Amino acid sequence: MIKIDDLIVEFDKGLRTLLAPARTSRPLPGKSLAEADMGEEEKRLAAALMRVNHSGEICAQALYQGQALTARDPLVQEKLQQAAQEETEHLAWTSRRVQELGGHLSLLNPLWYGGSLAIGAVAGLLGDKWNLGFLAETERQVGRHLQSHLARLPQQDEKSRAVVEQMYVDETNHADMAVRLGGAELPLPVKMAMKISSKVMTRTAYWV
Ligand SMILES: [Fe+2]
Ligand SMILES: [Fe+2]
Repeated sequence: MIKIDDLIVEFDKGLRTLLAPARTSRPLPGKSLAEADMGEEEKRLAAALMRVNHSGEICAQALYQGQALTARDPLVQEKLQQAAQEETEHLAWTSRRVQELGGHLSLLNPLWYGGSLAIGAVAGLLGDKWNLGFLAETERQVGRHLQSHLARLPQQDEKSRAVVEQMYVDETNHADMAVRLGGAELPLPVKMAMKISSKVMTRTAYWV
């Protein structure tokens, strides 16, 4: 059963994710690197890609919170909360990078957050085996997406690359953790549906 207190806590977390600057305990990857010499077009591209990654991290926050809300096993709940904490750092790094590149964050972030929270809560209701399986598959898809961004980011933008590379390492660890805790392999149609819905988000957040 979801308690009203939990819902209030989640609502508060949601507002903080969307409105307050995220905090990071690890230093920003690539912090000591110099800002690359980029043309207007390259800078716009890098900012748009980092905006997509920031929206992805907004979704990650909401998915984890939603999943933790309905997960049954206290150990799973605890691990999900921990991972959500690490995702907060990604949120801080990507928003910082968008800012440095002179871009803006996605205006639709509240929408991505709400949708992802609901999806996460449903995954949690299906039981821990599927909940963790969903998490592992999400993180794998995010990992592949980050690799595609490494191919698209301007070569000289080492600062953005450093952020994306560290995120890739972390997401891979999150996927491994979910498998270790007993995550099941999802059916192919579910994986496909997840791919399509994340495409909608990444394509839209690129522009808006
Ligand atoms: Fe992340
Ligand atoms: Fe992750």
